[in-house]
Amino acid sequence: MSAVPQRREVLRVPPTRKAEIVADLYRAIREEGRTLVELEWEQQRLHESRRWSAVERVDAVELEGVSASDRLVVWNAGRAELTTKPGADRLARLADQECRRWQGRNDAVASIIQACGTWSRYWNEEEAHHETSFNRLALLLGLERISDETFIEFRKIFPDDDMLRTLTLLSISEIVAAVNYAHCARITQEPGLKALFKQVGADEIQHMNYFIAFAKGLVDSGEYRAKEAFAVAHLFLREGGEVQGSRREHVEQRETHVNWWDQLEYREGMNAPDAAEKKETLIFHALKRITGITVSSAEELEDTWMELVG
Ligand SMILES: [Fe+2]
Ligand SMILES: [Fe+2]
Repeated sequence: MSAVPQRREVLRVPPTRKAEIVADLYRAIREEGRTLVELEWEQQRLHESRRWSAVERVDAVELEGVSASDRLVVWNAGRAELTTKPGADRLARLADQECRRWQGRNDAVASIIQACGTWSRYWNEEEAHHETSFNRLALLLGLERISDETFIEFRKIFPDDDMLRTLTLLSISEIVAAVNYAHCARITQEPGLKALFKQVGADEIQHMNYFIAFAKGLVDSGEYRAKEAFAVAHLFLREGGEVQGSRREHVEQRETHVNWWDQLEYREGMNAPDAAEKKETLIFHALKRITGITVSSAEELEDTWMELVG
């Protein structure tokens, strides 16, 4: 029988320290020697500290008090949130593949990517709250039913891409969602629905912060190029770019997957979120945190991207 390994020392961590997102992951792993077990504990603590009940939130909504415009917003939100599960499933798979590619070549990068894949389970679970809350509300409000066909269509798994491009795209997707929900929280008059929009918006901000941290870790390692993050931001902020979602003149028809921002339906009488400027500012801020490079307009973003491509 093998002996139980002895602890070298007792780890003393102040029990009241608030859980946080480790923002400087490359340094935390390389210089502070933080392990995946430690990082995972931090993720678990933060996840637990932010949990809320979809059942209670839905029960708290006074259905008669929900305006016609808000009803459309709820319907759109529920449908859009259906695409987060395939996003998270794909991230888990891609992260594990990528992690193994770096093992032995750059172990810090392998650990950052594994930490990301590990966190994807919390992300997936938190998005389940969004999806089920809005879809349940839409059902209770008697709105147009989402068919199983649409449900299955929206579950299509995204094709793989470079890890930094993927993380940047997910950061931006969370920005767009967070700004939309903040707008909804401001305009809705029904207190229960207002609280739900606020709660979901706060989750999306937290997700954005995680994606930025993982993306920054990859750039800091020197193994991933800032130009990839810029390429994705450009895709969103160029003229007629993705940030305008279904308002664009030309929305690509894809067989492979569903981009939720392309599927929002703006109907008559709907006070729809837009706030393009706010989204743009937050995207510039995210780019700065990921790459260390500052840009403050779509033109500057394009120029910098071209320079980085070289
Ligand atoms: Fe969400
Ligand atoms: Fe999210």
